[in-house]
Amino acid sequence: MSFTVAIDGPAASGKGTISRALAARFGMRHLDTGLLYRAVGARVDAGEEAIAAARTLTPEDLARDDLRGPAAASAASRVAVIPEVRAALLDFQRSFARAPEGAVLDGRDICTVICPDAEVKLYVTAAPEIRAERRYAELVARGMDVTREGVLKDVLARDARDMGRADAPLVAAPDATVLDTSEMGIEEAVAAAVDLVARAR
Ligand code: C5P
Repeated sequence: MSFTVAIDGPAASGKGTISRALAARFGMRHLDTGLLYRAVGARVDAGEEAIAAARTLTPEDLARDDLRGPAAASAASRVAVIPEVRAALLDFQRSFARAPEGAVLDGRDICTVICPDAEVKLYVTAAPEIRAERRYAELVARGMDVTREGVLKDVLARDARDMGRADAPLVAAPDATVLDTSEMGIEEAVAAAVDLVARAR
């Protein structure tokens, strides 16, 4: 019997850290689904057509080390509005969710589209200014040349594109537990998520 934890939320909400912590704590596999869209976006920026890139994505595409920056994030959210791109990535995500040891998937449409029957559904969010500040600190720590204003602008643009698209928009599933991390340290947010999963196991 597989056990799936589905986590959605906007950029820099804390969902990635929470997902990794849950996977480590419960011995489950973790898929950061944003990486799939980032990898497609990177291939499009390199001149390929988006739908073809999504249909032929390889593990090597996901291992590129330029996928973590703001340019890849922006490219990802532009290809993510294309329904055929989303459709091409669906089966991979659903089979990952059936891992025998259990799986944690995080993204934008995991609770709503990819794994609507997940045993645990979580929507992780925080105020845009707080998320932008976290992302800014993270990018500066990685040595990237960014400004606070630029990062906030990117976060807001990406929110608008992800929440406003017609296909699989970012929205809290009605049956997801909402975790607002605006006023929480990451340890507290992880503890709340661990508690939720422990009770469902
Ligand atoms: O989570 P991450 O910031 O890596 O996601 C990059 C972009 O990929 C998001 O802004 C969104 O447009 C897209 N995405 C998506 N559906 C997912 C995961 C990511 O549309 N499940």
